[in-house]
Amino acid sequence: MSDQPTARIVATGRYLPDRVLTNADLERMVDTDNEWIVERTGILERRLASDDITPVDMGARAAQRALEKAGVAPGDVDVLIVTTATPNHWLPSTSCEIQSRIGAARQCMAFDLHAACTGFLYAVSVAEGCLASGRAETVLIVSTEKMSSIVDWDDRATCILFGDGAGAAVVQGATEGRGAAANGRGTVAGRRGILSSFHRSDGDMAPLLQRAAGGSAKPLDEERLRNKEHLLRMSGREVFKSAVKSMASAGTRVLADAGLTGDDVDLMVPHQANIRIIESTARYARIPMDKVFVNLHRYGNISSATIPVALDEATDEGRIGPGSVVLTTAFGAGLTWGAMALRW
Ligand code: UT7
Repeated sequence: MSDQPTARIVATGRYLPDRVLTNADLERMVDTDNEWIVERTGILERRLASDDITPVDMGARAAQRALEKAGVAPGDVDVLIVTTATPNHWLPSTSCEIQSRIGAARQCMAFDLHAACTGFLYAVSVAEGCLASGRAETVLIVSTEKMSSIVDWDDRATCILFGDGAGAAVVQGATEGRGAAANGRGTVAGRRGILSSFHRSDGDMAPLLQRAAGGSAKPLDEERLRNKEHLLRMSGREVFKSAVKSMASAGTRVLADAGLTGDDVDLMVPHQANIRIIESTARYARIPMDKVFVNLHRYGNISSATIPVALDEATDEGRIGPGSVVLTTAFGAGLTWGAMALRW
């Protein structure tokens, strides 16, 4: 809760692979149909990275775009945080690989942060801490996911949901508000940056969404591979119920903490998992759907990349501009969830 934000997202970038997988394509792969997918999820198509495109490739491209837009050289990044549930390798971190790719080796601290779909919001809060403590002047966040590599393409309950892609954000110290607000309410009131945030996790719910094998607890062997224990498994209905409750309460809480109501929000940018979850969260926060950003129909759920990709598209489309009040909410495996209110 603050009228004096310490950190601000100054620029974003995105990379989406070209290949499109439609619901009609999925009809030919598993026992499903377009009507069921659209009605239950809102998804029409998703992007898939080809075999030779990795999370490092996608993340580096999104990062380069964000740095260009911010006018920041790779060598001026003080902290690089990568969020991913699909790292290139277990060792080293994907962040070190992206650091090398963008030409920032030896210039900054780089580490991975794993909070599944909530990863981007967690990372923005960590960036805020780095800036507030004076440890950094510029933090680069890269959220990159190749969900197609961990999805069971025979499991119709999950394979229809996910897609691949990457988003990035450059976070720096907050600045005084200047310029016209995108909402047409004149000049920006107060400082621009993070107004309030709230994050939680509930490890008791871990089994609801997981990849059971492939880590130290259950190293891969032939039997586990045969049983596909290394692939994503989800109790969809339980996750759904939890997502609605958690995102709604986190969203309303950050608005209250910032002294705002749904009327003050210019654009809500929720995690893109399911249109019914998005609609419920918006309803709780009393935000009409015309003030909610949705690209789920085109990309499906790209895990932690959904929010930075959506922020980047929303700024490109002019739906977010200087002074806009933005509410973001996220939810994912762990379980993890969170929300953030920002003045852009
Ligand atoms: O990023 C955060 C993590 N993930 C999420 O947020 C996802 C949260 N969960 C969901 O979005 C929804 O639970 C799903 C979209 C995954 C499923 O929707 P649902 O309304 O919860 O359906 P359900 O799992 O209760 O299944 C209803 C029926 C079942 O058939 P029976 O048992 O009623 O005969 C399923 O077998 O729908 C069946 N079904 C399908 N039918 C056609 C499940 N997947 C499919 C499918 N096509 N792809």
